[in-house]
Amino acid sequence: MLEAARQALGGATRVLVVTGAGISAESGIPTFRGEGGLWEGFRAQDLATPQAFARDPELVWRWYRWRRDICNRAQPNPGHLAVARLEQTHDSLLLTQNVDGLHPRAGSERLVEIHGNIDTARCTACWTLTPIAELDDGVPRCPRCAGTMRPHILWFGETYWEGTLDVGLAFAGRADVCLVVGTSGMVTAPTSVAMHAKRSGAFVIDVNPNTSEVTRFADAWLKGPSGELLPELIGAD
Ligand code: OAD
Repeated sequence: MLEAARQALGGATRVLVVTGAGISAESGIPTFRGEGGLWEGFRAQDLATPQAFARDPELVWRWYRWRRDICNRAQPNPGHLAVARLEQTHDSLLLTQNVDGLHPRAGSERLVEIHGNIDTARCTACWTLTPIAELDDGVPRCPRCAGTMRPHILWFGETYWEGTLDVGLAFAGRADVCLVVGTSGMVTAPTSVAMHAKRSGAFVIDVNPNTSEVTRFADAWLKGPSGELLPELIGAD
């Protein structure tokens, strides 16, 4: 499988990469649906919603600050570094579901953080984006209009921001290889971008220690942790 995937990548010009929480597992960030996803007895799925924020914004902000601390303390792992390296050898685009900021810190520049970013807040009234580091504790107020700020994260039940997925779909239609890493595939939009790449003729590689929604239509399943397999597939610095 690794050899077939290497060959496909070696012959590819354009590579679409789609990543999920699994690529950051080896950096010590708990995945959404795996072990360690609980905080003070709450499941992520119960806090990352507009309803939870409307009910108790203070609680949701506390949870995000806790997650932000974990993300900021974590370091990119060899999987993130290998993905960043692809930009030097291929025309590549990275769509990540992760909000942890580890891809940009590893050097990826052609990326779209389709679910937002843990270091950024957004005004619920005027949509101004502000780094959380510049805001007060508690439930911060917008520096521009004094509206309530929320984490700039796509929550369960919300629709994607305009244009976010279009760039991925356009690239998917022209990609030679689609590399999908560390996602259960249960969020349908990113999975459907990978499916679109497949239908358009791309060779799909799934990197995951477990089967996922993507394994079903992948041309190669590299079974194992991405921190070990991606450097083997792509090469390490
Ligand atoms: P999940 O928690 O659903 O899935 C994580 C995947 O990573 C699983 O398939 C694991 O088998 C795999 N995995 C675990 N360790 C790994 C490793 N070392 N190397 C590679 N893979 C590994 O996370 P996502 O699929 O990213 O969205 O979930 C997507 C979205 O669910 C999140 O972005 C979030 C949530 O809804 C929003 O908040 C909008």
